[in-house]
Parts: sequence; C-alpha cells; structure tokens
Amino acid sequence: MTILVTGGAGFIGSNFVLDWFKTSDEPVVNLDALTYAGNLANLASLAKDPRHVFVQGDICDRALIDQLLATHQPRALVHFAAESHVDRSIHGPGAFMRTNIEGTFTLLEAARAYWSTLAGEAKAAFRFHHVSTDEVYGSLKPSDPPFAESNPYEPNSPYSASKAASDHLVRAWHHTYGLPVVTTNCSNNYGPFHFPEKLIPLMIVNALAGKPLPVYGDGQQIRDWLYVTDHCAGIRAVLAGGRLGETYNIGGWNEKANIDIVKTVCALLDELRPDPAGPYSRLITYVTDRPGHDRRYAIDARKIERELGWRPAETFDTGIRKTVEWYLANAEWVSQVQSGAYREWVAKQYD
Ligand code: NAD
Ligand code: DAU
Repeated sequence: MTILVTGGAGFIGSNFVLDWFKTSDEPVVNLDALTYAGNLANLASLAKDPRHVFVQGDICDRALIDQLLATHQPRALVHFAAESHVDRSIHGPGAFMRTNIEGTFTLLEAARAYWSTLAGEAKAAFRFHHVSTDEVYGSLKPSDPPFAESNPYEPNSPYSASKAASDHLVRAWHHTYGLPVVTTNCSNNYGPFHFPEKLIPLMIVNALAGKPLPVYGDGQQIRDWLYVTDHCAGIRAVLAGGRLGETYNIGGWNEKANIDIVKTVCALLDELRPDPAGPYSRLITYVTDRPGHDRRYAIDARKIERELGWRPAETFDTGIRKTVEWYLANAEWVSQVQSGAYREWVAKQYD
C-alpha cells in the first residue's frame, strides 16, 4: 500500500510526511513542484529512506499525475499543494487560481479516472483527502460563535476564494461522480519548517536579526493557532475514519490577537536568547494594514473530536516554546530559505 501526497515539501506537507513514518511504514510518493515554498531540506532526514519517493512536478500536469497513479497504485491521495500566502495572493492572484483551482481540478479528474479502474476492496477503500483552510468561512465578529462545518462560505481574499473554489470542486466530484472524498478545514498552523513569510516565523527571524517586527493595522486581529503536528494527526484521523463527502474543521481552541502572539515570541526570545540591546518588543512596529484583512477566525472542532476522537496534544504554551526553540536550533535552515527571492519578497511587501 502507498499514499500519494501533493505539496509534501512545504510547511505542513513535510511535517505530515515526517510524522507519517513515525507511525507507519507505508510508502509515500511525494509530488511537489518545489516553488519558493517547497524545500527538500525539510525532508533531509528521509534522503536515504526507501519508503519516501520524491517527484518534482506540477499538480496541473495531468500526464504526470496519471503516470504516478498508474505506477504506484496509491490507496489514497492527500492534497496539500497550494499557493498559501494571503499577502502574495493580493500582489499576484494568478498563481493561486492556477494551482489552487486548476491544480485541484486536474487532480480530481486524474483521481476519478484512476479510481474508476479499481475494483472491489481497492475501489471502496480509495480516498481523496483535500486539505483546506478555515479562511473559506470569512471573518467573524467578536461575539460570533466559532466556525462550524455548516457555516456559509464567505471568502474575502484571492487566496481564500481560490481555496473555497477548490473545496467546491471536491464536493461536486463526490456528489456527481461518487469520488470518495474527505475535506479538512484547519485554522492557522505554526511549528518547524514554517516559511518566514508567515507571522510567527517572520517575527522570530526578524527579531534575531534586529529588524522591525511589522504588525499590520492595530494588531488586534484574531487567529486560532494549532501546532502543526496536531493538524497532521487530525488529517490522519480523518483519512482513516472520516465519513465520505464530509468536511471536518480542525483547530486548537487557541484564539489569540496578533499583537499578543508577537509579544509572546518576544518574551520567549528574551528568555532563550537575550539581546544585549534590550527586550525584543522594542522592535514592534505598526505598519499599514493588509487590504481586506479578516478580523477574526476561530474553529469549532467538536465534530472531529466527537466522531474521530481527535484532540490537540499541544497547548499554545508548549507549542510556541517548541517552535521558538526549533528556530534557534536551526539557523542554517533559516539562512538557506532566505534566498534572493525571499529578500525580494520582503522588500516588495514591507519597504
Ligand atoms: P506551503 O506554501 O508551505 O507549501 C505548499 C507546497 O505546495 C510547497 O511545497 C510548494 O512547492 C507546493 N506547490 C505549490 N504549487 C504547486 C504545484 N502547482 N504543483 C505541485 N506542488 C506545488 O503551504 P502550507 O502552509 O504547508 O499549506 C499546505 C496546505 O494546507 C495548503 O493547501 C493550505 O491551503 C492548507 N492550510 C494551511 C494552513 C496554514 O496555517 N499554513 C492552515 C490551513 C490549511
Ligand atoms: O487560517 C488558516 C490560514 O492561516 C491558512 O489557510 C494560510 O495558508 C496561512 O498563511 C494562514 O493565513 P493568515 O493570513 O492568517 O497567516 P499569516 O501568518 O500571513 O498572518 C497571520 C496574521 O498576522 C494575520 O492577521 C496577518 C498578520 N500579520 C502577518 C504578517 C506576515 C502581521 O501583522 N504582520 C505580518 O508581517
């Protein structure tokens, strides 16, 4: 048995692949285009592991996907590959439409063709697991209950609109063709291998470099944070036991305002790597807000807990400490990802 993973060299995908082999010997075929966000260094510990087959390629390449499905005969496809950064989607939405919508469509069509060749047990057991986001539900007001699976879709950014479109395609391929799909909609992840364009790793690497810590708007926007390996465990639970055609929200019950996240990172760095120049919070700088910035996300994760017994293992306090420690211990990874292209992005977004 084998699973096919897309986007397994990115932040969550690489954590998922690394975690998979802690609990299973089932091989993983990992298809990733290695965009700026994909990094084989994340998977360096698997370099000589025969259970991991890495293929560099594009999820929009139908011939390649057909060939991978025919060759490896996976029992499941777990789809992480995406353009994932909201700010980049505001600067250039085209890549998001292509990868997130056309790429998902291409995978669905290839999976449908492959699945139709299966019979009996293999056909019944096949799964297409679509990894999605809570951002498809839009923005909550302070007194609104957290997002449930029944919330209407109200995406507000080009990124979330493209993910919403992909969720709808997945739903339609189940209802129209009977493709055995499950979808998970998760809140903000953090942890090792998080690309330093996103809030938490950006704050850590900027603080260590003595650079400003750019907080958008008033810093009171709220996100619901989940340690990445808890997300991976939730995906494994849904892949194993999720009901076909259902969606499952995954979240850590950890609503935090951005400014509080930044202050927590600063306090941990003050403790673990004190700066003789003074507390890291001196670097906090309020900058122009993100256009269309969603004010609050929060996940109601009771369905996955009730049906599948999943619960996060990490609290925010344990997860954020592990994360800061990981970045302090992995300065080489950080400097490797801060390539010329990364520096160009930072200049475009923050100068
Ligand atoms: P990421 O940007 O770190 O990684 C994306 C990966 O996809 C990269 O390895 C990249 O090379 C690959 N990729 C991009 N375009 C591709 C293409 N056309 N063909 C093949 N591979 C391609 O993203 P992430 O944060 O790891 O997110 C993974 C998935 O989880 C995404 O679908 C995202 O929408 C979803 N998600 C992310 C979060 C989060 O907080 N990061 C939360 C909920 C859901
Ligand atoms: O909710 C799940 C989503 O979480 C995922 O679907 C996305 O792929 C992922 O990128 C993330 O989106 P966000 O926009 O919430 O994450 P980001 O880390 O970019 O920003 C988190 C919050 O911090 C957001 O309110 C914007 C703010 N922010 C971000 C950056 C990069 C700042 O204030 N300053 C910054 O420099």
